[in-house]
Amino acid sequence: MIPAPTAYRPAQIWLHWIVVLGVILQIGFHDAIVAVIGALEAGQAPAAADVTWAWVHVGVGSTILVAVIARLALRWRFGAPGHAPDTSALQARIASTMHGALYVLLLAMVATGMLTWSAIAPLGGVHFGINVALFFAALAHALAAVFNQVVRRDGTLMRMVPRF
Ligand code: HEM
Ligand code: HEM
Repeated sequence: MIPAPTAYRPAQIWLHWIVVLGVILQIGFHDAIVAVIGALEAGQAPAAADVTWAWVHVGVGSTILVAVIARLALRWRFGAPGHAPDTSALQARIASTMHGALYVLLLAMVATGMLTWSAIAPLGGVHFGINVALFFAALAHALAAVFNQVVRRDGTLMRMVPRF
């Protein structure tokens, strides 16, 4: 049996930031894919440029899916470091729940996006709603990481900083 790790592996750290970058791109650039779906639902031909950028949204979203699956596989295989010392049981539970929720929200984003894009189910509204939840969950998560690092000085943020 592999002992519990004391740090995230480099692959876990890089994949974390690849996903963060991907989510920022997705939330920042979605007008084209919304226009394409709107045109198709209205029975009109979407603009060619919109179709191109829509495929970029699909490509970045698919990259996020691969990265999340890789992260879950690495976590399952190698585990993750326990919470920082001095973390109360309540704080530890909140942090673990938040990490699980972030994984679920990411997978739900990809699933609803793919179902909408492939015209299997028009879940654009759900996709948008989950995106809002993901935004606020990620914001709270990031603020908690910075708070723990700067105020409690427990080294939480440094665990996710890549080492060169
Ligand atoms: C974490 C990953 C993703 C994020 C954060 C994200 C984010 C967004 C956002 C913010 C919108 C605009 C929603 C609106 O204003 O109504 C959107 C629209 C859309 N996204 Fe994504 N997306 C992700 C992954 C994907 C994937 C993987 C696909 C498809 C393979 C996809 C397909 C779509 C489609 C089809 C729309 C238009 C929905 C509509 O207008 O009905 N998304 N996405
Ligand atoms: C889209 C935005 C983000 C998502 C989806 C996300 C997701 C996650 C997930 C799922 C974990 C748990 C990793 C695991 O144990 O398997 C994690 C850990 C972590 N994240 Fe993020 N994250 C985001 C943004 C950020 C930002 C902006 C920061 C820094 C300001 C950050 C700092 C950290 C740190 C320090 C950890 C390790 C926490 C610990 O070991 O207790 N994350 N993140």
